Amino acid sequence: MFMPVMEIKKMGEPVLKEICAPVERIDKKIKHLLDDMAETMYANEGVGLAAPQVGVPIRMAVINVDKKKLYELINPVIVEREGAVVDQEGCLSFPGLFGDVERAEKVRVEYINRYGKKRFVEAEGLLARCLQHEIDHLDGKLFIEIAQNLSEGRRDRS
Ligand code: CO
Repeated sequence: MFMPVMEIKKMGEPVLKEICAPVERIDKKIKHLLDDMAETMYANEGVGLAAPQVGVPIRMAVINVDKKKLYELINPVIVEREGAVVDQEGCLSFPGLFGDVERAEKVRVEYINRYGKKRFVEAEGLLARCLQHEIDHLDGKLFIEIAQNLSEGRRDRS
């Protein structure tokens, strides 16, 4: 199967600020886009990628934080959140830029998988952070707008 790596839209591209439209029907095109998004995420060594980042303003994201479990999220919604935690974050649309972002510590997310089934994921740690970051993308919200201590390059934690 040929799965092309797509071009990632960078800072300043208007599509990154769009409120994305819900996916109404999961057809072949949608499934191909999920494949291409995952391929693009892996090729860029990212842990998450939202559809607007490849220029498609629809509510879809892929996440893989442990190189084991790929989440393909269609119309994801955060239905529960708990706690707050600050950690460093980056984004494939802002290469080399990192900043501290406060996020909920735990989230429960409802989504539709590629087979049209409703699924839930409960997460904490990096997966919880990533879910919040990607779902923000679907509302045109970018991490740099809420980040503190923005810097070029990842800072070491002591
Ligand atoms: Co991002």
